[in-house]
Amino acid sequence: MCKSIFIVCCILYFSVGYTQLKQIEFEKTIEEKISLLMANMSLEEKIGQTCQITLDAVLKTDANGTVVEPVQLDASKLNEALTKYRVGSILNVSSHTLTISEWKSMHQAIHKYYQEKFIKIPILYGIDAIHGVNYTQGATLFPHEIGLAATWNRETLKKTASITASEMRASGIRWNFSPVLDLGRQPLWSRYFETLGEDPYLTSELGKQIILGYQGTQSKIDNTHVVSCLKHFVGYSMPQSGRDRTPAWIPEKYMSELFLPPFKAAIEAGALTVMVNSGSVNGTPGHANYKLLTKLLKQDWGFKGFVVSDWEDFSLLSSVHQTAGSYKEGIVQAIQAGVDMSMVPTSPLYKDYCTLFNDAIKEKLIDSSRLEDAVRRILRVKLYAGLFDNLNQTKEKGDLFGTSTFKKEAENTVLESITLLKNKNNILPLKPNTKVLLTGPTANSLNALNGAWTHTWQGVDTLYNTKDALTLLEAFKLKNASVSYVKGAMNEYIEGWESCKIIDTIALKEQAAKNDVIVICLGELPGTEKPGDIRALDLPEAQLQLAKCAINTGKPVILLLIEGRPRTLHPIVEGMDAIIQLYLPGDYGAQACVKILYGDENPCGKLPYTYPKYSGIIEHYDHPKSIEKSKSNQWNGFDPEWEFGHGLSYTSFNYSNLMVSKEQFKELDSIRITVDITNTGLRVGKEVAQLYVSDLQAQVTPAVKQLKGFDKIELQPGQTKKVSFILSNKDLKYANQSGEFVNEPGFFRIQIGPVSKLIELIK
Ligand code: BGC
Repeated sequence: MCKSIFIVCCILYFSVGYTQLKQIEFEKTIEEKISLLMANMSLEEKIGQTCQITLDAVLKTDANGTVVEPVQLDASKLNEALTKYRVGSILNVSSHTLTISEWKSMHQAIHKYYQEKFIKIPILYGIDAIHGVNYTQGATLFPHEIGLAATWNRETLKKTASITASEMRASGIRWNFSPVLDLGRQPLWSRYFETLGEDPYLTSELGKQIILGYQGTQSKIDNTHVVSCLKHFVGYSMPQSGRDRTPAWIPEKYMSELFLPPFKAAIEAGALTVMVNSGSVNGTPGHANYKLLTKLLKQDWGFKGFVVSDWEDFSLLSSVHQTAGSYKEGIVQAIQAGVDMSMVPTSPLYKDYCTLFNDAIKEKLIDSSRLEDAVRRILRVKLYAGLFDNLNQTKEKGDLFGTSTFKKEAENTVLESITLLKNKNNILPLKPNTKVLLTGPTANSLNALNGAWTHTWQGVDTLYNTKDALTLLEAFKLKNASVSYVKGAMNEYIEGWESCKIIDTIALKEQAAKNDVIVICLGELPGTEKPGDIRALDLPEAQLQLAKCAINTGKPVILLLIEGRPRTLHPIVEGMDAIIQLYLPGDYGAQACVKILYGDENPCGKLPYTYPKYSGIIEHYDHPKSIEKSKSNQWNGFDPEWEFGHGLSYTSFNYSNLMVSKEQFKELDSIRITVDITNTGLRVGKEVAQLYVSDLQAQVTPAVKQLKGFDKIELQPGQTKKVSFILSNKDLKYANQSGEFVNEPGFFRIQIGPVSKLIELIK
């Protein structure tokens, strides 16, 4: 017995040692290659490496400057960018999605410059494949991140990301501007749907899985994986005004406790690039923040990859943020702060960038060591990405691109995410012969299901939609041919702002009389960044009116929400018999939803955010206790529509036997916590065990509770499983006002579901 343990330990010791040695060897070889490359690079070539242009800058245009369709590379523009300005990176798609063969031939033409030795360093191409490869026609589209977070399923996120990576490789692209790790704590923000929700622990845990799915587990990116890019470092998601790219004011405590941990966890998981926050935090623009970019990210966290700017942000330091007096001063500020690559990205701005950068080096406004460091970092990532290998010999692995295998995975992801918020008298699942009237502005729109970043930037154009993907109406018809449909209301943009108009409530009433239930589909128009800004969090008034009209028919009403954030809807909640949150589920959302409605599948998603009841009371589950005080002190002032982590099932679960390995523990101890969960209903179901910890007293007012563990399990009817978590001292620390993590002895409440226990940290 002892002997075999000894042998296993030896094998482990030597294999870990061997892997570490291989890693050290690998890194050494990479660094040597970089030194060799850099020894032969001119100043212009080095500056060019830091310059990223958009595809439009090298496409053929007509006499008016409009990109010619179908898009084609303009040989002379490309030649100028690559051989004169020595540009190192290209990004993006032009105005819409391309076919896989268009992408391939484009990349071949670009890579030829390296292969035929017109340039020494290959181009790194980057794209926003943020819910699947949304800029390649026929790719598998997944839910947006907010829906992914609702799965609370680490495996699912890893799988989703790895499919995206392999479909990117099939399109010849190796750098993904994803994941967004900004925290969703400001639902007015137009990019809320791009986040993994409001909680730092959930975001960190799921973010790590996305990194593993994109990049794989090898140091060098193999031919099924891609380089990831963490966005947007840091604080972008918390604009005080709610509008995109406006200032955030974040105390050090919240920076440390909430906004930084997901980025730190992703860097530890090996993320190779980071994109900067386009806004400002506490008055300092993200792109001029030396403390965050150099001191924290690179020095303290040891980040070895490179930092890329967001769109045009070097120039915005003078034109918008006004921390620089000129474009040149902006370049100096951003490079000195620690940005390594500038997404310039248009022409002729990129030419000015290269010239001004050169001047700044000559005038010693930028340290040449800073340029050397930036280039070294960029080359490192290019080497890790395998770009120097002969691309003709490296078979890109994307064999399953757009196949039913991947589409099935996308549907499974949606099934994991759909969240049943209300189910009065178990109206759901529907009986097969139920006569259904479908209505609402999102009932027959594939664009609504996909949101922005789908085939086009804003996702509103219907021209490029995936051919075989279904709207909710189409999916319903496949299941139940007799489903009736009345549009009811229409979402539209008026003067750039979202709006909704009622169309036919009379038809709604008439049809309601002929059917058993009304399924009403509400929600948002696609939109992101500035164009996606909204003026109020409430669902548009016309949608609420349509819902009231449906309720007033006296028929049971089931509400489907297709929205990237929690839009407040309190006036209609009471009247609804069932409410389902679909988030922005993508191309396979409709069919998954119908399966859940008819009970072919059991819902198991959980809210990754607190769903507010009133647009004037936006609070998070991890608020301080003072928030719970109401005017009269007679009820809890923290009164959301639905709590963070909420989500119903068609079965029921019971929690029992909460056990802790120690009730008193010291700083270096860890505690094992176990709980039994039983499926007490009649059908198989999945439950998410959520472990919350409450610090009962601290020198800085603590949060009422914080998520410190979760596990999603499947249970057969009657089955019980034991779920266990390990808590260490680190999980019980809080950030003080200076943002430093500290431990204080005292009592902590541990809670999983309805069961809880006290533990004590002693000196
Ligand atoms: C967005 C980024 C995106 C970049 C490239 C910017 O406007 O803020 O998230 O990656 O464009 O498309």
